[in-house]
Amino acid sequence: MQEKRQKIMFFLGKGGVGKSTTSSLYAVERSLKGEKVLLASMDPAHNLGDIFKMQLKGKPTKLNDNLSLCEINLDYWVDSYLADMQKQMTKSYAYLTALSLDKHFEIIRYSPGIEEYALLRSFSYFINNYMDFDRIIFDMPPTGLTLKFFSLPKISQIWLEKLVDLRNEIIKKKEIVTKIKFGKVEIERDKLLNKLNSQLNEYSEVREILEDAERTELILVMNQDKLSLAESKLIIEKLKISKLKISMIFINKFNADIPVKELEAQFSNYKIRHYPLYKESITGIERLKEYLTENKFIQSK
Ligand SMILES: Nc1ncnc2c1ncn2[C@@H]1O[C@H](COP(=O)(O)OP(=O)(O)OP(=O)(O)O)[C@@H](O)[C@H]1O
Ligand SMILES: [Mg+2]
Repeated sequence: MQEKRQKIMFFLGKGGVGKSTTSSLYAVERSLKGEKVLLASMDPAHNLGDIFKMQLKGKPTKLNDNLSLCEINLDYWVDSYLADMQKQMTKSYAYLTALSLDKHFEIIRYSPGIEEYALLRSFSYFINNYMDFDRIIFDMPPTGLTLKFFSLPKISQIWLEKLVDLRNEIIKKKEIVTKIKFGKVEIERDKLLNKLNSQLNEYSEVREILEDAERTELILVMNQDKLSLAESKLIIEKLKISKLKISMIFINKFNADIPVKELEAQFSNYKIRHYPLYKESITGIERLKEYLTENKFIQSK
């Protein structure tokens, strides 16, 4: 059980709508309001470093007492996931060493699905290891990978439940054989079943966290154009399959001269924030603060 539970936020939306910019603005805003915030980019093509004009790493770098930043290193998490898988398999199936597992793992590295597992692993690590933050904000990758990331816990759970059933069938058969052979039921707990059940628990825990609207917020960033509207609707629909809901919509690069009523009517159930289009890109902590003051997200001092 965790002692302290950080708030968790994900920023998602179509490419280029301003996920990195608005998540940076939001992180600065909360930090100025007194929260300890960690802003982490999950996008393999990071640009948080460019926004804050800082060299960032896979582990948090402190910008000031209230704000830390990092760019999650996907390759590192793929390596860590594969190394763990290899260790487990070598332990469970010693005979497989004869099949030169290493080669197979080199192929798995490039197979579909690995990136989202790596992201999920990094997510669990971050929320379980960076407990001294009040809020962890994740700037998400392009929609395709983001949606896979969110559906992964449920899909893995379904798979694991099937595997547990299958394993139980095998155990039952083994018990029958053992009874015939030795006249008693095998009492040792099945190691593989234990492993499957513990993985099942891990995925259930992640799902609980993601589905906990009190703790986890999904921010959908969009612009006032048809393409970003279409992708936003798609994101909302796809997330429903994973029982996830958008908690707020940020209309970024907002232009008050473009009619927005019709657009907002389609999202009347959501809280909406407007982030006006700035005259230039919003980079460097001073300009981020300036933008927040100018647009009254924070009080001017
Ligand atoms: N409110 C704004 N005013 C002016 N420029 C903006 C604003 N928001 C974002 N931009 C600019 O738009 C571009 C895309 O923004 P950003 O990188 O934040 O989007 P993104 O959704 O994170 O993109 P990607 O999908 O590539 O990660 C950048 O050049 C950024 O400086
Ligand atoms: Mg980005």
